[in-house]
Amino acid sequence: MSSIASSLRTGTLVDGFGRVHTDFRISVTDRCNLRCTYCMPLEVEFKPREQLLTYEEIARVAFVMSGLGIRTIRLTGGEPLVRSGIEGLVRQLVAIPNIESVALTTNGLLLAEQAESLFRAGLARLNVSLDSLREDRFVQIARGKGLDRVLAGLTAAKAAGFQSIRINAVSIRGLTEDEIVPLALFCRREGFHLRFIEFMPLDADGAWSSEQVLAGYAVRELLERQIGPLVPAVRSDTGQPAVDYCWADGAGSVGFIDPVTAPFCGQCDRLRLTADGQVRNCLFSTTEWDARQLLRSGGSDEMLVDLVQECVRGKRAAHGIGEPDFIRPDRAMYQIGG
Ligand code: 5AD
Ligand code: SF4
Repeated sequence: MSSIASSLRTGTLVDGFGRVHTDFRISVTDRCNLRCTYCMPLEVEFKPREQLLTYEEIARVAFVMSGLGIRTIRLTGGEPLVRSGIEGLVRQLVAIPNIESVALTTNGLLLAEQAESLFRAGLARLNVSLDSLREDRFVQIARGKGLDRVLAGLTAAKAAGFQSIRINAVSIRGLTEDEIVPLALFCRREGFHLRFIEFMPLDADGAWSSEQVLAGYAVRELLERQIGPLVPAVRSDTGQPAVDYCWADGAGSVGFIDPVTAPFCGQCDRLRLTADGQVRNCLFSTTEWDARQLLRSGGSDEMLVDLVQECVRGKRAAHGIGEPDFIRPDRAMYQIGG
């Protein structure tokens, strides 16, 4: 029996469709200092602290996952920088054998204060969410102030030594069209890689509709019309959902994450851990596997391996947005992690 357990422990995470899972997204909190319309409700009740995994518990799960072929980790939220001591978690995760990189997605509000300590802890990459460069529009989308702090955070991140900083911008029809060109020009000037993400049905208010999806190809056409030609970039990582383009004039690159109009489920290599310790095989999964309960009832690493393997075996072929039988998950984005 023990040989079965140990072979499982160092196995790989292959689902029923042959997809190998190497990327692990860990949400460290459901809390946030903004209330973006596409992610959170305005009035929100957060999980009590004791329901969140401790850093030690997160590190244990990550260690077991590394034995199963996970190679890259991304920390998300809510907003990960509102949880204190996050750089300590980064340090623990970076030290796990076989983990090749630890990245983090942030709204940037607390980045100016934390960029240097995160860089020193070994954080490899930063994604910063930024949908608008206009204060009024920023407040309209994020339902809180902070554009100046995000910009200060980006400056601090560069100064701290972060390379290839990415900006995530959600595209929403009727809302973000005017932001596209200014964001692209800003990123070209500052050397940030910009990614436009199609609006997904993960807002907390259930307001998403397919009419609000501003397709990646429409954004690309607008950019080419107003700024100049884009040429497809050579792909270095097939697991990446983004389709990247370079500006023909050489001034940087821009990418498109099109989960609605061009789903990338066939290449998905991701698993997720929610802040309250549930393992998920998809953003849109309606089932989750309770790692917290297992960890807190004295479960062994082998049992954790079994739980994760079962989660992977249960992964569906595709999210099915737009299909007649599509069911929205109960959780909104802030409760899953981007
Ligand atoms: N659709 C698309 N992207 C979203 N994000 C949050 N909610 C949604 C949604 N409903 C993005 C944010 C952030 C990342 C964590 O996920 O822009 O960059
Ligand atoms: Fe907070 Fe990010 Fe959600 Fe906006 S998208 S409310 S910044 S977690």
